Amino acid sequence: MQNFMFHVPTKVYFGKGEIDKLGNEVKKYGSKVLLVYGGGSIKKIGLYDDIINNFKKYEISYMELSGVDPNPRITSVEAGVKICRENAIEAVVAAGGGSAIDCAKMIAAATKSGSDDLWGIVTGDVPIKEVLPVIAIPTIAAAGSEMDTSAVISNLKTHEKIGPSNPGMRPKVAIMDPTYTFTVSPRQTAAGTADIMSHVLEVYFNNNKGAFLQSRFAEAVLKTCIKYGKLAYREPDNYEARANLMWAGSWAINGLLAKGAAGGWSCHAMEHELSAHYDIVHGEGLAILIPHWLRHMLCVENVWKYVEYGINVWGIDPNLSQMDIANQAIEATASYFKAMNLPSTLSEVGIDTSKFEVMATSAAKRLKNTFVPLNKDDVKAIYQKAL
Ligand code: NZQ
Ligand code: ZN
Repeated sequence: MQNFMFHVPTKVYFGKGEIDKLGNEVKKYGSKVLLVYGGGSIKKIGLYDDIINNFKKYEISYMELSGVDPNPRITSVEAGVKICRENAIEAVVAAGGGSAIDCAKMIAAATKSGSDDLWGIVTGDVPIKEVLPVIAIPTIAAAGSEMDTSAVISNLKTHEKIGPSNPGMRPKVAIMDPTYTFTVSPRQTAAGTADIMSHVLEVYFNNNKGAFLQSRFAEAVLKTCIKYGKLAYREPDNYEARANLMWAGSWAINGLLAKGAAGGWSCHAMEHELSAHYDIVHGEGLAILIPHWLRHMLCVENVWKYVEYGINVWGIDPNLSQMDIANQAIEATASYFKAMNLPSTLSEVGIDTSKFEVMATSAAKRLKNTFVPLNKDDVKAIYQKAL
């Protein structure tokens, strides 16, 4: 186990009806807020009205930034920062999926930077100074942005998608009501499940044999996804499924699983290139890449980790050979995604080889501390196998 510091100070209200805690919590951070949300799903599910009623009850004035796209753009961040600066906004409330929450976190991080080079803040060229408090209300189990320190922002002009991280961006409060996720489509439910599983697999596959408890934590989150992802896919208003999946999404990425045995986020580095160049659904890109990424890394020296994964997560027969267990575990992962109609090839989502070179070059720059050394040629080989 490597040394680590664990501090995840997000106050979570979890369960049906917890939205009633919003006004009192927001008031602790300010009386003038910016409400950030996406294309309108929060209005369809009644969350928007619940939020506004809280604001009225606690006399909180608010401005709105709506229309945040999936794979949120820097242009939305710029629009939000403008509103915050012109209206002396004191806190940012995000309602929606990872895109709305990430956009809100970036707005909160950029508003008091004193800089107008907001893309520079995303790339890290401009330092983040004071971050406005963020309160997150997730409506989809996927990114887990409600409890983590990152935000992933796209620049469609430069075809870049980058995810800076800063402790100040971790939401102060998260209000997580699984009933708000009942309306998530089967497609987004499946994509979100793949995203959560990827968040776990990318830190679970590490070389740290001594991180026993971390591995069992990770296996528990994976088994939760496997049990409840497909159930929520089939039964959208199954509260138990939605609740477990939502909670798994938070613990997959809030930092706990990476403590003491940090992994390299290599699949995300490769997928963010796909989203940056082709604007595809993040979880779908991951569902395509994960089986090929696992196969590409497998070797005699690291098969022990695949055996743990196969036996502890998929219940594969421990009497098989190590390589058979490993290959069956990879197959089980791929079949699970397919059973939720997730795409399994790049071609299915309109991606060909034309940008492999530029995407692999960019992804390779972010491949640090990976389970096995990976370079640009490895990324191209994985893209090629996923074609
Ligand atoms: O825009 P609206 O109308 O809200 O519709 C959204 C959007 O079309 C819809 N949706 C969300 N909640 C719903 C709903 N539809 C019906 N009922 C509901 N309750 O779902 C669509 C996708 O929303 P989005 O926010 O894009 O999905 P997700 O939560 O998967 O977020 C994806 C983004 O998160 C980033 C990804 O890169 C991507 O940009 N990530 C953020 C991370 C982080 N902060 O640490 C880590 C992740 O790995 C990920 O990279
Ligand atoms: Zn992700």
